[in-house]
Amino acid sequence: MNQIILYILLVLGISQMTMAQNPLSNKYDLMPWPKEIKEKPAKFLINSDVTISIHSEHSERVRNAAVNFIRRLSARTGVFFNEGFPLENKKGTIQISYDEVVTLNLKADESYTLNTNDSLIEIKAQTDLGALRGLQTLLQLTDHNSSTYFFPGISIFDAPRFVWRGLMIDVSRHFHPVNVIKRNLDAMASMKMNVFHWHLTDDQGFRIESKAYPKLQELASDGLFYTQEQIKEVVTYADHLGIRVIPEIDVPGHASAILTAYPELGSKADYHYAIERFSGVFDPTLNPTLDTTYVFLETLFAEITPLFPDKYFHIGGDENEGKHWNENQEIQKFKKKHKLKTNHDLQTYFNIKLEKILNKLGKKLMGWDEIMTPDMPTSAVIHSWRGENEGLPNGGSLIAAAKKGYQTVLSNGYYIDRMLSVEHHYSNDPIKNIELTPEERSRILGGEATMWSELVTSQTIDSRIWPRTAAIAERFWSSKDVNDVENMRKRLKTVSFRLEELELTHIKNKAVILRGMTNNQDISSLETLTNICEPLKVYARNKDGVEYKTYSPFNLFADACIVDAPDALIFNQHVTAFIKTPNNNNQTAVLNCLYKWAANDAQFSKLRMNPKISALNTLSKSLSNASKGLSEVLQNEDISETTIDQIQSNIDILSQEFMDTEVVIIDALNKLVSYCKTNLKTN
Ligand code: ACM
Repeated sequence: MNQIILYILLVLGISQMTMAQNPLSNKYDLMPWPKEIKEKPAKFLINSDVTISIHSEHSERVRNAAVNFIRRLSARTGVFFNEGFPLENKKGTIQISYDEVVTLNLKADESYTLNTNDSLIEIKAQTDLGALRGLQTLLQLTDHNSSTYFFPGISIFDAPRFVWRGLMIDVSRHFHPVNVIKRNLDAMASMKMNVFHWHLTDDQGFRIESKAYPKLQELASDGLFYTQEQIKEVVTYADHLGIRVIPEIDVPGHASAILTAYPELGSKADYHYAIERFSGVFDPTLNPTLDTTYVFLETLFAEITPLFPDKYFHIGGDENEGKHWNENQEIQKFKKKHKLKTNHDLQTYFNIKLEKILNKLGKKLMGWDEIMTPDMPTSAVIHSWRGENEGLPNGGSLIAAAKKGYQTVLSNGYYIDRMLSVEHHYSNDPIKNIELTPEERSRILGGEATMWSELVTSQTIDSRIWPRTAAIAERFWSSKDVNDVENMRKRLKTVSFRLEELELTHIKNKAVILRGMTNNQDISSLETLTNICEPLKVYARNKDGVEYKTYSPFNLFADACIVDAPDALIFNQHVTAFIKTPNNNNQTAVLNCLYKWAANDAQFSKLRMNPKISALNTLSKSLSNASKGLSEVLQNEDISETTIDQIQSNIDILSQEFMDTEVVIIDALNKLVSYCKTNLKTN
């Protein structure tokens, strides 16, 4: 072959290799994975002489971030730093510089470079936001050997793939106080997320103080709402972390709470509006034909918008089925008079009026994808949440919106309340294999994980958001080809426990719930069960939205369980490996899991029972019986057909639901039974 062609092929091959997952991701637990990273033969020792200095215009964000960085580094390493604050007018051993301090906005540059050498670390960025992102990366690089902590020699250039990397928290279905929001903002910042979408109102409660319409908090919040001072406090806190805050006032549907306070704005006369206690889609809807509705919204928005400096303002707009509109003769007449054929047309009429109001207030209207109707101006922002749209694949409304000229954000595929695996979310790329023009691509701003809170309280919300949202954050920040699930899982393990530094409760509250369940007995046997059980998925836990009320208990077995049950994940991998290669090592790995489960019921049975624990009796017994039987069969101790039948009947029992959870090792157990039937001689 011609030398030149060979050379070209070689170069192409190398550049393709660098496109794939970087091998350094096996070594460093960075998340989100940076755009470019190279190792250098250097080691920056973390000792008491480490200092930090900022060499640019004052930025409250960077100063706060630098102080937090030093605190976390000190806590992580146990090093007593001589200096606990950024140096004034002196050069530190960690030096930060940036070209400008920005107000948060969609276009603000977040790129940075990070260089670590033996005695100097430099973070350089165009904006102070980039400096924040760089500090988070540096903290993630903290490493150690037996005698010292250090930062490895490294050179990074990093920049996000999407400008909108969000988390939505619903504080209506369950209220979450300021401290819960703040710790989640900290976690978002550590994952370089930059949008907090605050779902402030819904059927189950109106959560923001209004001085103009005080009945909103007095009658429609059960006393659980944020004062305007608290809102400002959170917005400032988020700003310091480089996070924009987008409020959502969901209208015209999802309006039970608003109409509890101001029933005269409702679409149905003589209807008893009340704060909703169940979950689902409900009929109370604002009346879009009344001038007073728009006076109310304009006054409310005029009061609320100054609290939120961001340009974007979310009006919800989802799931209005129009039932009360259909039942109101005046509304039907209004539709005829204004030549509005359908309820969609009427809602578009409403949305356009809201857009004008928001425009006057300097805001850009954003809404769930129902607002994308033919007459909706393309100045609106479409938040894609539904799966199907115009024949396009999942998240189709995202692509449709971008093609029609709307800015758009994707949440389809990132509904973390559906309790689906981290792999499911991580593998959902916002832009699948679809050709887009550069303009269309630029209108796809990014995505948001959505934490709907029907089934979460402040005790469990962290374990529903994290760690899966860290993997989603990587999907939004890192390049599309950073997509190796096993590698992500490996890094996520480290990332997850480090989130505890921020006082997140996603790991520790499992034990808190189990101690509560047992009245402070030995929880180890229950922990074993939680490690193979997951909460029922895709809203099966709350069938038809009526099994739980907002004030039902959410400290039950299902609330202690998490998605991606850790022992199940390991066992399922061991079983796959064993069936593929049934050698001693692989068999031992499987057997060790089975032994643990076989012995678990003896421990469980020692608990002083109460109704919450007894409900798990069958689960515990069947798990132990199936595991004991399988371990014996696998070792050829007892391979009678009766034993195999007994194992199978225990597995069948385990396939039921237990206290709103499912056992997620059933497939692996069944595979082992099939393996035994095929490969072991039964008598
Ligand atoms: C939604 O999930 N109803 C936006």
